[in-house]
Amino acid sequence: MVDKTCPKCQGTGWVLEEKGSRSVAKRCECFIKNRKNVILEQANLPKRYKNCSFNNFEIHNDSLRSALKISKKFVKNYPVQDIGLLFQGPCGVGKTHLAVAILNELIEKKSISCYFCDFRELIRNIQNSYSSDSAMSETDVIAPIFKKNVLVLDELGAKRTSPWVEETVFYIINHRYNNKKLTIFTSNYIDSGEEEEDKRSSYFKKKDFNQLADDSLVDRIGIRLRSRVYEMCKIVNMGGDDYRKKVKQAGYRF
Ligand SMILES: Nc1ncnc2c1ncn2[C@@H]1O[C@H](COP(=O)(O)OP(=O)(O)O)[C@@H](O)[C@H]1O
Ligand SMILES: [Mg+2]
Ligand SMILES: [Zn+2]
Repeated sequence: MVDKTCPKCQGTGWVLEEKGSRSVAKRCECFIKNRKNVILEQANLPKRYKNCSFNNFEIHNDSLRSALKISKKFVKNYPVQDIGLLFQGPCGVGKTHLAVAILNELIEKKSISCYFCDFRELIRNIQNSYSSDSAMSETDVIAPIFKKNVLVLDELGAKRTSPWVEETVFYIINHRYNNKKLTIFTSNYIDSGEEEEDKRSSYFKKKDFNQLADDSLVDRIGIRLRSRVYEMCKIVNMGGDDYRKKVKQAGYRF
C-alpha cells in the first residue's frame, strides 16, 4: 500500500501535519496514489476482461444502449442508490463486459472497494473450504464477498444449486443487502413465465431465445433466492448477437 522508499513518510504511509500547536497524522500522498492500484489488484477482475470499459462497449441495439446508460448512471449515483443490477440475456451480449466496466469505473473515479466473483467459483470455494485439507477457510473465502462495497456475481445459476448451497448464497447476498452493499449479477437464465416473456419480447428477437438455456433462473437457483435477487436489483435485459461469434470471428484473418 505504501512506497517503502517515499522520502515523505519513510514507508509508513502517514505524515504529520502541524495544525496550530498540535500535529495531526495524515495519509501520505504515496498511500493515496497506491490505494487505487491496491483496490484494483484485490478486485479479482478476470484477466480477459481487465480492459473492459464503457468506452469500448459497442452499441448494436436499443437494449445495449439502455444497459450502458443504466450502468453509467449506477456509477454516477453511487453510493446514493441502494439497488443493484441484474444483467440478463443470452451468451456473448456483453453482460460480463459491462459488469466489469462498472467496477473499473467505480475504482478509478471513486476508489470504491470492489470484487468480482464467478458464481461457480463461489460455490466451489465454499464447498472446498469445508474440507479439512483446504488451505482456505470459509472466512477467507467469504470475507471479500461480505466486505467489498460492490460485488459482481457473474453467471448466476451457471451451476445448479442444492438446498444447502441456496441457503448459503441466500445468506451471503442477504447479508450484503442488509449492510447496504450493492451486488451486480449477470445471468444467462431468465424466467419463463408469460408475464416475463411479454416484457422481454421487445428486447429479444426469436433467435435469442434459442440461444438461451432451457432452464429458467428459478429452476437453477430456487424461488427464495430468485425473489431476493429481484428485490435487490434492477433487471437489465440485454439482447442481440453473440459478440464473440459475430464480431470477433469477422476480425480474425488468416
Ligand atoms: N457490446 C459490446 N461491445 C464491445 N465488446 C463486447 C460487446 N459485447 C461483448 N463484447 C466482448 O465480447 C466478449 C464476450 O462478452 P461477454 O461480456 O463475456 O458476454 P456475456 O457475459 O454476455 O456472455 C468479451 O470479450 C466482450 O468484451
Ligand atoms: Mg458473462
Ligand atoms: Zn509516502
